[in-house]
Amino acid sequence: MGAVARTLPPMLLGLLLAFTPGAQGVNPGLVARITDKGLEYAAKEGLLVLQRELHEIALPDFTGDFRVKHVGRGHYEFSRLDIRSCELRGPALKPLPGQGLSLTVADSFIRVQGRWKVRKSFLKLQGSFDLDIKGLAISANLLLGHESSGRPTVTASGCSSHIGDVEVDISGKLGWLLDLFHNQIESLFRRVLESKICEMVQKSVASDLQPYLQTLPVTAKIDSFVGVDYSLMAAPLATTQALDVMLKGEIFNLNHRSPVAISAPLLSLPEDGNRMVHFAVSDYVLNTGGLVYHQAGYLNFSMTDDMIPPDFIVHLTTKSFRVFVPWIARLYPNMNLELQGAVVLAPLVHLSPGNLSLAPQMEIEAFVLQPGNARELVFRLGVTTNISATVTFNTSKITGCLNPGKVRVELKESRVGTFHVELLEALLNYYILHTLYPKVNDHLARGFPLPLLKRIQLSDLVLQLHKDFLFLGANVQYTRG
Ligand SMILES: *[C@@H]1O[C@H](CO)[C@@H](O)[C@H](O)[C@H]1NC(C)=O
Ligand SMILES: *[C@@H]1O[C@H](CO)[C@@H](O)[C@H](O)[C@H]1NC(C)=O
Ligand SMILES: *[C@@H]1O[C@H](CO)[C@@H](O)[C@H](O)[C@H]1NC(C)=O
Ligand SMILES: *[C@@H]1O[C@H](CO)[C@@H](O)[C@H](O)[C@H]1NC(C)=O
Repeated sequence: MGAVARTLPPMLLGLLLAFTPGAQGVNPGLVARITDKGLEYAAKEGLLVLQRELHEIALPDFTGDFRVKHVGRGHYEFSRLDIRSCELRGPALKPLPGQGLSLTVADSFIRVQGRWKVRKSFLKLQGSFDLDIKGLAISANLLLGHESSGRPTVTASGCSSHIGDVEVDISGKLGWLLDLFHNQIESLFRRVLESKICEMVQKSVASDLQPYLQTLPVTAKIDSFVGVDYSLMAAPLATTQALDVMLKGEIFNLNHRSPVAISAPLLSLPEDGNRMVHFAVSDYVLNTGGLVYHQAGYLNFSMTDDMIPPDFIVHLTTKSFRVFVPWIARLYPNMNLELQGAVVLAPLVHLSPGNLSLAPQMEIEAFVLQPGNARELVFRLGVTTNISATVTFNTSKITGCLNPGKVRVELKESRVGTFHVELLEALLNYYILHTLYPKVNDHLARGFPLPLLKRIQLSDLVLQLHKDFLFLGANVQYTRG
């Protein structure tokens, strides 16, 4: 592959790249990158599972007839073979570009105990033996894929195992028996064990690893109203350095999922990720959340006089407004007002190096509340503000907090004459700071779940803000179950 790519003219290479999924506007919202450090850790944990499974391997009895010089013909039986100890060493899990991962184990050791029986005409001998298998090497490819449900899949292929050396210690110290072993049984034994080990690897991948990978929450609930879709958009991508898992990362309404009109940016992840796992969370993820909350009217609010502290400089009454809109008190004496606010467009976050900001635009309609529940629109305001947000994450969730910016108010329409908006600006700043921000921040503090497999804890957390994405890094601790 590499050689082919190098000889391709750059133009052609460009064309090829243009046909990769990334360029078709179906970029992942979130990329989880498992670095070589992460793979190293996974290899160590995986090894313990393999070691446990290896203990469980059932070895068959070996029986057969023999003919040994100076001894003659006879019948042998090796039975009750049992793996007493094993020590797998030198685990390595490396990206296998375009396929998945390659798993290797080197220079490992297994001790088997068993019973031997030999029959030669009327003579019957028996005893026990120890068998030390040294220099055991295993290698297998783990092919990674994804189901249509978006769950990851893994299958083992191309497994091979090789035994370097077999040493046998037979009770009775019968020299010819040792010869028998070396001449006939050892190679048979190697063959059987080598194939049993690969069978075990296949089984362990199918019955341990695949179910474990499928503990990835393909959809995770954020609150009672929205969830996040973490389905895999493609098979995990092995590059020379890391394994990248491309997840949709779309926040959606749990009751009513509708197509999303925005698309995720093409992310270019920093190469120097020095943690086991990194998550690039694009602005797409946050913006799909904004869209859903906006569509559901979560960002609409209503403000009435009872929400304003008694000693505040201005109240939502026509009397209080008289000072700066003289007409209103004359047209609607002694009535209350209600302000109805809505964020005009779903707020889009803007991620730049070191900064997450948004500039929501609100529209506020003011109504006088007339006797008999009649409401009459008296003026409309446009409200703009610049908000920056602080993002943090802990071992399982990303949380955010909006840092309020001052709002700027503009009169859009008035049916009660022109007026100065400064006092209203003060009122709105008060309301937004004391009511709207706490409400939104409470929500953001509940956090947004990271796509983590079961029994994974994160530590050594780092967070950076890049253009178009949050870049989180962490080391991983697997709690053995
Ligand atoms: C939010 O308010 C706007 C403007 O008043 C309105 O058009 C929209 O229907 C409201 N959305 C919901 C879901 O109530
Ligand atoms: C972050 O963005 C806000 C709003 O655009 C801006 O006021 C602030 O200066 C920015 N901070 C940095 C560190 O760039
Ligand atoms: C928000 O930031 C933009 C760009 O920096 C600026 O033009 C605008 O006046 C700011 N708006 C408010 C309400 O501060
Ligand atoms: C992580 O943050 C979330 C949201 O604030 C919180 O509910 C959770 O308890 C935190 N977890 C830990 C381990 O601190």
